[in-house]
Amino acid sequence: MKTSTSPELTTFAEDVLRGLSSTPKQLSSKYFYDDEGSRLFQEIMKLPEYYLTRAEYKLLTEQSEVIGNAFTDGADAIDLIELGAGDGTKTAVLIEHLLGQKIDFTYSPIDISKEACDALSEKFSVKFPGLKIEPHHGDYFTILDSLRNGTGRRKVILFLGSNIGNFNREQAVDFFRRLRAVMNTGDRIFIGFDMQKDPRVIVRAYDDASGVTAAFNLNLLRRINRELEADFVVENFSHYAQYRPVECAARSFLISLKKQTVHISAVNRSFEFEQWEPIFMEISQKYTAAMIEELAAASGFEITETFLDRENFYCDSLWQPK
Ligand code: AVJ
Repeated sequence: MKTSTSPELTTFAEDVLRGLSSTPKQLSSKYFYDDEGSRLFQEIMKLPEYYLTRAEYKLLTEQSEVIGNAFTDGADAIDLIELGAGDGTKTAVLIEHLLGQKIDFTYSPIDISKEACDALSEKFSVKFPGLKIEPHHGDYFTILDSLRNGTGRRKVILFLGSNIGNFNREQAVDFFRRLRAVMNTGDRIFIGFDMQKDPRVIVRAYDDASGVTAAFNLNLLRRINRELEADFVVENFSHYAQYRPVECAARSFLISLKKQTVHISAVNRSFEFEQWEPIFMEISQKYTAAMIEELAAASGFEITETFLDRENFYCDSLWQPK
């Protein structure tokens, strides 16, 4: 079988097998980002309903001065490290400010994808000729661990874009505890959180009128068809997004529109779908100030400073090891 040679694909196949064998059925949103999925996410960020990217960009732009001061906190040199950097539009705001302030710093994007790292490094080396860029690709924790006894300078680790939202509470605590374990006490993390707000605003962000988010979810079925030799009929599934205000959680599902069977050759199995059976696709967790504080404490951190936009839509929170 041509697909079983690459190790990533084996993990992908295993995760799909496990997810579709569970009750309820589920697929992991971490697999949304193949080439087409990354392109669709770029489109999502431009949607009028998807307020997150604009809110964070505005926050960073308007408060870059205080944020920069909190990063350096008297130090004249730092190592700026970014986890899962994306296209770098938001990071560029901070970099521009630090360069303008003549702060001595290096910028290290860390991404699992070498292509993503290289593309961003290339883009920034053109945009910021004086910037010292040290990209690393691979597992976040392995790389941070290897950098731990490096320069002796404060590390400021960026985790922007509400990427933390794709973790449930247990996964988020686990993630931050593991980060804590590879940080020195003087280091900081700077995390983007999407805040609790009007439920209707949140639902629209995950169920946009033009159907881009629906296409983004359905694209994972296409990816499974292609990479795992499956026969999903994508038209037989419908995207459904909901928001539960008590848990502050947005969730998306693909609903099976009829009773059907899907075969996935790479795992050598067929899966039965009942009519209206959901596949749980993604959680996008929202936060209150109390939840952020509680999460920091549970993970071994304390909040150094939080930055909210004017509408209280979005928060970037700076944490230090406790
Ligand atoms: C990339 C995780 C921040 O949950 O808001 C956008 C992904 N999913 N629309 C989010 C996403 C549907 C996004 N994050």
